[in-house]
Amino acid sequence: MVSIRPSGSDGVVLTVRPFMTFGRLDAGRFFMLRGDEESSPAIPRPFSLYRQGDSGNLEFLIKVIGPGTEALAQSRVGEEIVMIGPLGRGWPELTQDGKPLIMLAGGIGSAPFYIALQQALAGTDQRPAVDPGQLHLIYGGRNKGLLYDIEKFEELGIAVTPCTDDGSFGFHGNVVQALEDHWRQSRFPSEVRLWTCGPEPMMRAVVKVAEDRDLQCWFSLETYMGCGVGICNGCAVLTCKEGSLGSWPVAKCCVDGPVFAARDVQLT
Ligand SMILES: Cc1cc2nc3c(=O)[nH]c(=O)nc-3n(C[C@H](O)[C@H](O)[C@H](O)COP(=O)(O)OP(=O)(O)OC[C@H]3O[C@@H](n4cnc5c(N)ncnc54)[C@H](O)[C@@H]3O)c2cc1C
Ligand code: FES
Repeated sequence: MVSIRPSGSDGVVLTVRPFMTFGRLDAGRFFMLRGDEESSPAIPRPFSLYRQGDSGNLEFLIKVIGPGTEALAQSRVGEEIVMIGPLGRGWPELTQDGKPLIMLAGGIGSAPFYIALQQALAGTDQRPAVDPGQLHLIYGGRNKGLLYDIEKFEELGIAVTPCTDDGSFGFHGNVVQALEDHWRQSRFPSEVRLWTCGPEPMMRAVVKVAEDRDLQCWFSLETYMGCGVGICNGCAVLTCKEGSLGSWPVAKCCVDGPVFAARDVQLT
């Protein structure tokens, strides 16, 4: 582990230097991480890749909620941590098709969006950079302390709408209310693409908006995970019969996701 810094009221950003060098990692993929052997639970926990540095370092944005995240947050510089990955399937390749991309994040659900924005803005040899005007992040939390690294997202130069349930910062309300407000004020065209990650009730509300307005929608799911590699069946999610995974009643979040098209799997 190279460094650790606090983020928000109960989070940390861990920067780690893997033993091997990775090329460009797809945004939305995840790693299983485990901290100190004595204090960590035996099973590593899943975390989205937050940022990938030019030096090869990888960053993870972690909300401390239990023993696994607590042990990671207590890691010391120089200490080794267990890291398995990259795993899973990330966000779809972002092309500029004239429809703005609205990312809706709730709390720690912002983690898989930073790298997606970074990559979209940078482009690749095969794919031109996306115009920052086509990207918008609506980022909600119960209060300002739960908008992790909000200033880092704002520094990317895209439009960011912070919103809080208690009105302590930004728009007073939730991300769906903020989205509807943008439409009411004609700040967004009616045709947009939606990507979302956060608490399931929030994602369900976003999916409902997408269904009502017939919009493309993708979400990143946070299920419990045992192995992270498709063996234990601990991360099963119900598929939608009509979707591209519908030939089997369940999919595995760790290998078929964690990013899914909303039409492919059911949110519980
Ligand atoms: C693909 C993926 C990516 C993730 N990315 C991130 C990330 O970037 N940053 C981050 O902070 N967290 C992320 N998570 C969630 C993270 O894995 C959990 O917070 C972590 O496993 C909790 O471990 P713990 O030992 O600290 O707490 P635990 O003791 O395992 O859990 C503490 C409490 O939280 C509840 N809980 C734990 N996990 C979940 C869950 N998935 N759904 C509902 N309740 C839960 C438990 O029931 C318990 O009550 C991700 C999860 C997945 C599947
Ligand atoms: S976590 Fe084991 S199969 Fe998905």
